[in-house]
Amino acid sequence: MTEALIDPVRICAAEDLLDGGAGQRMSATYVGGEAVVFFVRYGGEVYGYLNRCAHVPMELDWVEGQFFESSGLYLMCATHGAIYEPDTGKCVGGPCRGGRLRPVRVEERDTPEGRAVFWLPDGDLRPTQP
Ligand code: FES
Repeated sequence: MTEALIDPVRICAAEDLLDGGAGQRMSATYVGGEAVVFFVRYGGEVYGYLNRCAHVPMELDWVEGQFFESSGLYLMCATHGAIYEPDTGKCVGGPCRGGRLRPVRVEERDTPEGRAVFWLPDGDLRPTQP
């Protein structure tokens, strides 16, 4: 069975994501349940993940949209302090060391309104309103 293609979802203007700065959240469904995906910029590139810690299935950001710890080098779960590499989603410290965030596909595209960030949904992780 081929999977139905889902249209890319515009997340924000490219300039809204600053390197090591606040992320953008978007509602999603994951395996049929409510979820959130998030997008951040790191080393000039945009990365996106399911907002769910590999330790306990909780959202990472305590203050909404704040995913980076103070150095801007790692994503951090506010609950027990797990840290993740922003470019791979790999947990490199904390209780779920060796675990991973679930990545989402992301692309920057030029649009008539300017450069923008798009989520390319795949698998069981879908936009809430397709
Ligand atoms: S829930 Fe994220 S570190 Fe425990």
